[in-house]
Parts: sequence; structure tokens; C-alpha cells
Amino acid sequence: MSEKAYRVGVVGAGMVGDRLVAGLEERHFPLEELRIMATSARKQEMAGRQRDVIAASPEAFDGLDIALFAGTEGESGASVRFGWQAADKGVFVVDNGGDFRMDARVPLVVPEVNAEAMRRHSGFVANPNCSTVQMVMVLAPLHGAASLRRVVVSTYQAVGGTGRSGVQALAEQRKAAAHGGPMDLGPYPHAIYDNVIPQVGGLNEHFPGYYSEEVKMIRETRKILGRPDLPITATCVRVPVANGHSEAINAEFERQLSAEEAREILSRFPGVVVVDDPAASRYPLAADAGGQDAVFVGRIREDPSSPNALDMWCVSDNLLKGAALNAVQIAEKAVEMGLI
Ligand SMILES: NC(=O)c1ccc[n+]([C@@H]2O[C@H](COP(=O)([O-])OP(=O)(O)OC[C@H]3O[C@@H](n4cnc5c(N)ncnc54)[C@H](OP(=O)(O)O)[C@@H]3O)[C@@H](O)[C@H]2O)c1
Repeated sequence: MSEKAYRVGVVGAGMVGDRLVAGLEERHFPLEELRIMATSARKQEMAGRQRDVIAASPEAFDGLDIALFAGTEGESGASVRFGWQAADKGVFVVDNGGDFRMDARVPLVVPEVNAEAMRRHSGFVANPNCSTVQMVMVLAPLHGAASLRRVVVSTYQAVGGTGRSGVQALAEQRKAAAHGGPMDLGPYPHAIYDNVIPQVGGLNEHFPGYYSEEVKMIRETRKILGRPDLPITATCVRVPVANGHSEAINAEFERQLSAEEAREILSRFPGVVVVDDPAASRYPLAADAGGQDAVFVGRIREDPSSPNALDMWCVSDNLLKGAALNAVQIAEKAVEMGLI
């Protein structure tokens, strides 16, 4: 990291915003100033202490070197309203939301995998979707060794991935189930308490029958791996877990890759931890992944239905490598590469 200190904005004071502030401080990002923005000005506890939050506006970005966006998505969301204006002022923008990930001007980056894509940046870099980040961390090193032919993934996604509204919905539904009272569905189409919902996001007109999270996983994985034609399909499922996404991944390669070879490759890859002792019932668990930076992978086994395929189980903290940690790592890497 350079000697220079940076004026950094965090836009959004929700679950990801909180972890961004914590990540910048815990990782000792060289901060000259930390400016936190949300929809309104107030004092708010974030990352363990009271902070001043200011209202986001075009002028609020004046003088910043970097802005890490964690506002909600869509027309009224922070990055649609302020992201490109900030980039035009010379602020290096990293966006956690999905609005611009597939924009040709925007590198979509997991630093361990495709940091070089940032060399073509236009002042705006996107963080992939949380489910995509952890899967790509596992697929990329194996792809490098044996070239992917096809991927089939099923996810088991925590309510924390929806933000504060998802966590609140599960907590309130749990209370309603215990004490009686109306079941508020919160941001979901059905109760998530004591349930499993095979819908994450809304329908996508270009992918009939697929929900948006599934389309994100398909498109973003292709973009990050530079394989626009990669055959890949996804089924994304919301589960009543507070934090930590889990994924069952079936990956087929151009050549045979033994489970042992895959374990070796994955255990050498930065940011990936192999937990794989099925006889001892040791494998990655969402309950263990909370607060951890790593992407955990286990249950690595050769698929008997296809000679070149492996099955794997992958778990990560959706708020950390799936969002805030990856965004801070992008900023760190951009500084290291002399882009900021
Ligand atoms: N949660 C995850 O695991 C996860 C993972 C990957 C990516 N993401 C993405 O990260 C972003 C934030 O997610 P989250 O889970 O932190 O959501 P959240 O808990 O719902 O928080 C959203 C924050 O965004 C702020 N905000 C919304 N519109 C804004 C605007 N126009 N200007 C300024 N601030 C605005 C809100 O401000 P107020 O507090 O004033 O309402 C709130 O603080 C989303 O785009 C989400 O898709 C989330």
C-alpha cells in the first residue's frame, strides 16, 4: 500500500455499509477522511461506534478520491443517482449493487481472479453479486487448471443478502410463530421462517422462467471469467439463515480433474480455505463462515455421472467476500496498481 492517504466515501449505512466502514478501518486502508452517506443526515452506530452520516447529494462527493457504494439498487438507489456523476468528478467508484455490472464500461472484479480488468476502467468498477463472488473464487483456479466446460449451481442464500429488511423479516416471523400474531412477509413473496423459497429476485424477460439472481450468476460469471459462451445454469434459493450463503456447485471440465488435485489447487488459491473431511462430518457451514474473510469449499468429489465433473460445497459470508471485503480489496488493488 502506498504512503498516500485517501479521502474515501461510503455510500449506504445498511448492512454492507457497516461492513465497509469496518473493513476499511480493520485493514488499515490509508484514510485521510471517511465520509459516510445515506438518504438522510444523522448520527448512527456503525462498525462499533457512533458516526456522522450525511445526506448523499452530487456535492457530497466533492473532493473524494474513492467512493464505495452500498446503497440500494434501481432508479432511487445511490449508484444510479450519484455513481457516474461522482466518477465524472474523478472519484474512483466501486459499486456493490447490480445496476451497472454488465455495463461494457464497467470492469466486474474479484481481485484474486481478474484484477487486470481494472486497467480498462472509466472511473467505475463493480463488485459482483455475493453468490457470484464466492462461486467464481472456487471456479477460477480450477478453470485455470482444466478449463471449464459447464457449470450447474444451486444456492442456499441467507436473508442477510437482502439487507436489513430480510434480517428483520426472519426475526419478526420467528417471533410471530412463537407468540402468535400476523406474519409480515417483509421483502419476500412467502414467509421465510421455517421455509425455503426457490425465488431470489424478480423474473427476467430475457431468461424465461429464471429469477434475477440466477441471471446475475450466469451473466456475471461469464464476464469475470472472460467466457461469454460458458454453459452455466443456476437455481437460487432463499433459506432461513441470517448470514452466510451456501452453494452446491457441479463443474465439468475439458479434462479429468481428480478430487485430490482440485483440493490441492484450491488450497493454494488466496482467499479460499478447503474444509473437507467427510468422514469426520467436516465441511463448510454457514454457521462457521460468519465474520470470516475466506471462501470455504469442501465435499469435493468426482461426479460419477460425468467423467470430467466435480461436485463441491462452497460457503462464504455474503457481507464480507460477497460484498464489503471484496469492495475494499478492489480499492486496495486499485491503489497498488496505481489506478487511483
Ligand atoms: N447484503 C448483502 O449480502 C449484499 C451482498 C452483495 C451486494 N449487496 C448490495 O449492496 C447494496 C447494499 O445492500 P445492504 O444489504 O447494505 O442494504 P440495506 O441494509 O438495505 O442498506 C441500504 C442502504 O442504502 C442507503 N440508500 C438507499 N438509497 C440511497 C440513496 N439514493 N442515496 C444514499 N443512500 C441510499 C440506505 O439509506 P438509509 O439508511 O438512509 O435508508 C441504507 O443505508 C445493495 O445494492 C445490495 O444489492 C448486498
